[in-house]
Amino acid sequence: MRILFYSPDDEPEAWIAALAKLLPEARVDIWRDGEGTPAPDAQPAAQHADYALLWRPSAAVLAACRGVKAIFNLGAGVDAVFKAGVPPPAPLVRLDDAGMGVQMAEYVSYALLRYFRRFDEYQLQAASQQWHFLEPYRKSDFTVGILGLGVLGLQVAAAVRQFGFPLRAWSRSKKDVAGIECFAGTAELDAFLSGTRVLVCVLPLTAETANILNRRNLSRLPHGAYLINVARGGHVAEPDLLALIRSGQIAGATLDVFRNEPLPAQHPFWQEPRITITPHMAAQTLVDESIAQIVAKIGAIERGESIAGIVDYTKGY
Ligand code: NAP
Ligand code: GLV
Repeated sequence: MRILFYSPDDEPEAWIAALAKLLPEARVDIWRDGEGTPAPDAQPAAQHADYALLWRPSAAVLAACRGVKAIFNLGAGVDAVFKAGVPPPAPLVRLDDAGMGVQMAEYVSYALLRYFRRFDEYQLQAASQQWHFLEPYRKSDFTVGILGLGVLGLQVAAAVRQFGFPLRAWSRSKKDVAGIECFAGTAELDAFLSGTRVLVCVLPLTAETANILNRRNLSRLPHGAYLINVARGGHVAEPDLLALIRSGQIAGATLDVFRNEPLPAQHPFWQEPRITITPHMAAQTLVDESIAQIVAKIGAIERGESIAGIVDYTKGY
């Protein structure tokens, strides 16, 4: 069995070692060059591959994967694959949790509790040596609304529920989950937003969800709402968010993802004390967990069984 590996963001050694442990019979070919500049021997290797493990592939890498049985995306979000501009030539399989759910739950719980217990404001006070007691918020005024109730959104919801926050979620198809007020589709978006105090975005980035965190939608939240975006930078209309932070409509935003990563040094978000920035680390791809999942799926495909996590090209996720 031959496997093609390509990622402009990772050193391949750890991936190769994990594959060698679980799939010793596989020969791994590494496409080492940057996007769009294939190494001279990379294309023939791709043409002989049975499977491809890719992250942020260029059009050239994708096109060369014609003939593989499946393309495994080394992440949950597949927007970068579609951004390459050529349709994936084989079934595209995304990571399905693989250790990311618990990280997402930790990240969102931390950001939520920081706002609820007003640590963000105490931190600003401490910077100028102010000792002021602030009125505690009430949980009943702190409804958490999750955009996206998929693999990761469900785990975020389970974590938040443990603290007793009122919980609601919005998805494409209607859900029925105990303890969560569920909304679905564009027709129910405004109703969802109007009762949400802390908006958490865990949506995939698609043509339908791009710019969803815009002035119109963020203005539907109650005044003084909070935003936690752990999905993609393309969900945020950045000038709108900046204006709404400055007006107080949004009391604070915790942002893990940006349109341009790394966030450029001159970006105005860096200067906003009410915007908290992390470098796309909310849920990191874990090599061992991801390879275990991929190898199990390769086994299932080889046995002619169905697998979870196949991306629906018409929906884009
Ligand atoms: P998922 O299981 O596919 O869940 C996606 C959810 O979004 C589903 O509930 C889906 O609705 C909903 N959705 C999609 N399009 C929608 C639309 N147009 N309107 C309403 N709801 C819509 O994805 P996941 O594994 O939870 O991952 C979500 C995203 O998290 C990834 O795509 C990625 O961008 C991001 N992510 C970020 C990091 C990080 O470190 N910051 C790490 C991993 C993932 P249905 O249930 O009805 O289909
Ligand atoms: C990371 O952002 C992922 O999509 O897995």
